[in-house]
Amino acid sequence: MKIAVLPGDGIGTEIVAEAVKVLNVLDLPLEMESALVGGAAYEAHGHPLPESTLKLAKEADAVLFGAVGDWKYDTLDRPLRPEQAILGLRKNLGLFANFRPAICYEQLVGASSLKPELIAGLDILIIRELTGDIYFGQPRGRRTAADGHFPGSEEAFDTMRYSRPEIERIAHVAFQAARKRNKKVTSVDKANVLETFQFWKDVVTEVHTQYPDVELQHMYVDNAAMQLVKAPKAFDVIVTGNMFGDILSDEASMLTGSIGMLPSASLNSQNQGLYEPSHGSAPDIAGKGVANPLATILSAAMMLRFSLNHAEAADRIEAAVKSVLAQGLRTPDIYSEGTTKVGTAQMGDAVSKALR
Ligand code: IPM
Ligand code: MG
Repeated sequence: MKIAVLPGDGIGTEIVAEAVKVLNVLDLPLEMESALVGGAAYEAHGHPLPESTLKLAKEADAVLFGAVGDWKYDTLDRPLRPEQAILGLRKNLGLFANFRPAICYEQLVGASSLKPELIAGLDILIIRELTGDIYFGQPRGRRTAADGHFPGSEEAFDTMRYSRPEIERIAHVAFQAARKRNKKVTSVDKANVLETFQFWKDVVTEVHTQYPDVELQHMYVDNAAMQLVKAPKAFDVIVTGNMFGDILSDEASMLTGSIGMLPSASLNSQNQGLYEPSHGSAPDIAGKGVANPLATILSAAMMLRFSLNHAEAADRIEAAVKSVLAQGLRTPDIYSEGTTKVGTAQMGDAVSKALR
């Protein structure tokens, strides 16, 4: 089993190192090869997603990804910005289905800014369409170089679009995921204003006829943002477009107290996948050894389950993470009084030890 390891920028290198450490404890034939991506690749090769990195990712069974980005790249032409690396990987590998679970761990109920009773036992899954929508429509603006460069343009636009097959396949993914959970899908749209999302709503409704055992609810995105903080446990699976999914998944992650805990998976139709923490590169704490590696370690578990067919090893990693939390070990982002503060590497060591 081949894994492309792409640590990226900021805390990416530190957290991915811990996930690799944990994977190495498992007695599995994993072949891991690393490459540069994002700002690090731009510095070394002049491009955030060099051909060699893309090739490695394409040929692997799975990609373990850290994070990309730094404010110092904000003024680069858009195609050279670190974020283009992750967008390029998603598009080139066809990773249209993004799974972003928001799970509240029992020991971390106090880390949330919401009342404990609202989030205790929370387990929701956001399924975000990842290769369409306004992210991949036609752009034009000051830093657009794809279809020409328009320095000083006084107008800019991006185009929101979805095709029937794009909506159908993500709807199937959502209904099938719901079947394995609490059998409820909330499709989030803005059909009251946007044609793209009226179409989305119509197609999701059609696909639903094939899943009579699953309940389907439609919700406008503004209302969904409100319901997520009002009664998050009322949701099971949320399915939505690329842009709304980007925003709602950040909101949902904060329900649980720490974005440092949440993994994600992005899959294509062959179950080849890219696995990354839901958080970003956090340049403000990079290199300090304080970042929480658990989201990346849990992403490695998702990788074993979804792309590498080792569900049992995934269960073991997840159990090891729960056991270090039960031991009271906490990185600063989830620290509270009465627990033990540890750094990035100590947390990775503790998970490895629990695994053994
Ligand atoms: C995410 C990130 C990315 C996105 C950025 C870095 C391009 O915010 O994965 O949610 O907008 O999809
Ligand atoms: Mg985001």
